[in-house]
Amino acid sequence: MSRVLVTRVLPDGGTDPLHDAGVEVLGRPDDRPYTHDELVTAAPQVDGIVCLLTDRIDAEVLTAGAAGRLRVVANVAAGYDNVDVATAVRLGVAVCNTPGVLDETTADLTFALILAASRLCSQAEADLRAGRWAGWGITQYLGRDVHGATLGLVGYGRIGRAVARRAVGFGMRVLHHTRRPTGEPGWCATLGELLDTADVVSLHVPLTPDTRHLIGAAELERMKPTAVLVNTARGPVVDEEALAAALEAGRIFAAGLDVYEHEPQVHPRLLAAPRTVLLPHIGSASRDTRTHMARLACEATVAVLAGRRPANLVTGRPHGAGPTPGPSGDR
Ligand code: GLV
Repeated sequence: MSRVLVTRVLPDGGTDPLHDAGVEVLGRPDDRPYTHDELVTAAPQVDGIVCLLTDRIDAEVLTAGAAGRLRVVANVAAGYDNVDVATAVRLGVAVCNTPGVLDETTADLTFALILAASRLCSQAEADLRAGRWAGWGITQYLGRDVHGATLGLVGYGRIGRAVARRAVGFGMRVLHHTRRPTGEPGWCATLGELLDTADVVSLHVPLTPDTRHLIGAAELERMKPTAVLVNTARGPVVDEEALAAALEAGRIFAAGLDVYEHEPQVHPRLLAAPRTVLLPHIGSASRDTRTHMARLACEATVAVLAGRRPANLVTGRPHGAGPTPGPSGDR
């Protein structure tokens, strides 16, 4: 009988594919996270691990696992920067993720941040809740219009495209930057060109060595002083220290963030920064989407253990080829 470790409690029905396949499911009913050491100890004793983006599945976990019975790691997320995919490939451990099912939900949340940051919603609500609102004022909370603005998407994968569809409905002009030409209207060959033009810059690239601190002091300097930065991709794509400095100095207008460099820590300067909307990594957090994600990861695990190749395999082949490009955006 196959045995699979599910590192955290998943939404109701999420593990059904494992149970339906007769897999023995291990995990903690109290949802206490496994420490890294505990993952290293558990990995060789299971055929599969269904994990979350908060679990670091590094070479140590994978090497320990592959020396035992570990054959598959399924990350309940589109991004898989928490998994050492190169080592998994080398050891013949399949890695799967959950692309596709969260695009619309994440795009909805991205749009919520575009609107909330442009219109200073957090600051306005905080004042109201704190009793600082003395009544309607014609010069209060003057945000930036979203309609008629130019949206610059950095990365144009499934989520970026879902954001673009919403933007059209809001009367925005849409640009995108990817490293390879898309052949589609609005493509900017360079990031700089997009930053020069966009009123809202929204990030949709996976975290890779190439995209770490893609937006730093120089890029923030290049943005319009009236521009808004939105990040629903991965925190380390933005240099938070540089972003906090830019917000404090008014070098950009506002920011809407769902992800952070050192989650769950949020940079204290960002917590205090003006015109900033901060959410706790809830991009894909709707009940239906999180359930779909959990099921997809569990289905992929069952497939690999049955010798089948799931569509959401990021390691190319269970015992072969290298990783495919990241799922949450193409650059
Ligand atoms: C969430 O951040 C994901 O990558 O699915």
